[in-house]
Amino acid sequence: MRRLGILTSGGDCPGVNAVIRGAVLGGDVAHGYEFLGFRDGWRGVLEQDVVPLPRTSVRGISRLGGTILGTSRTNPLLGKGIDGVRAGFRRNGLEGLIAIGGEGTLAAARELSGQGINVVGVPKTIDNDLGATDYTFGFDSAVQTATEAIDRLRTTGESHHRCMVAEVMGRNAGWIALHAGMAAGAHAILVPEHPVSLDQICSWVVSARDRGRAPLVVVAEAFAPEGHPAPYAPRGLDTFGRPRLGGIGLMLEGELQIRTGIETRATVLGHIQRGGEPTAFDRVLATRLGMAAVESAAAGRWGTMVSLRGTDIVNVGLEEALGELKVVPEARYQEAAVLFG
Ligand code: F6P
Repeated sequence: MRRLGILTSGGDCPGVNAVIRGAVLGGDVAHGYEFLGFRDGWRGVLEQDVVPLPRTSVRGISRLGGTILGTSRTNPLLGKGIDGVRAGFRRNGLEGLIAIGGEGTLAAARELSGQGINVVGVPKTIDNDLGATDYTFGFDSAVQTATEAIDRLRTTGESHHRCMVAEVMGRNAGWIALHAGMAAGAHAILVPEHPVSLDQICSWVVSARDRGRAPLVVVAEAFAPEGHPAPYAPRGLDTFGRPRLGGIGLMLEGELQIRTGIETRATVLGHIQRGGEPTAFDRVLATRLGMAAVESAAAGRWGTMVSLRGTDIVNVGLEEALGELKVVPEARYQEAAVLFG
């Protein structure tokens, strides 16, 4: 029996379960593959925490948030490292592994693949910041959740004639802020790719207030105002050594209130954006990616990642996939900025 492993690693996001289901069903129907799931990402591989994944275990899971396998930010290159992963493969008789993860996970997959370990990557992040795919699954769901939350902030802001600030996730890219901000009709959208001064933000806020509106500001967690050397990250580093971002919303609350005299309230949407059910778009994308990952494994296209190009699912090398961070292009920012203030 041909056997593949599956793991989900790094931050979870809506749609992960749909990838698992797509892979297991597609692999079973088209190739007779059997699947094993590693619990909590690379930790499961290193510590032999494995569960069988028969067809029955993935029934009806594409609409569920989170991941049935659990996740962690365990770095497989530390501790038992590559030898530990190799041992995990041998013990379970695996032909290869489908690794569902973001930038950190795929970087580890690239390293393992370079050492001769059979891995296919599936890009997963609400941040939408991976260069070699047009969209990552989870992004659409995060934008939908953020938009609904910002719509709610608008109505309470209007009742109290307040300025409302919504801080959204996205790590070093402003995609969630840009899309949720546009969808909710924000008066200012602040993204890390385009620093602006506090004076400029205040002038958008005052102009909205002068037209009788309750100003609405959407800020990406990595935004830093002009002249500020780095994003706000007072909470140290994660296990991959990346700064834990957050705090700009609260900083803006104070600054905007003092500078404009308009009562201001900030809300940090945080992990709400990562939880809950995936949208229909994400379910379809995730299912297609899961099925394509198994096809890639069956064809021996190891060391690649499945990716969305236009409406097609294609394979790209993990090198290319991690080549550059996909950030908001200046033209997309300028297009949105026409409506600020
Ligand atoms: O990469 C996804 C993401 O949700 C980022 O948007 C955010 O900065 C980070 O993960 C939060 O990570 P954690 O769940 O470890 O706090």
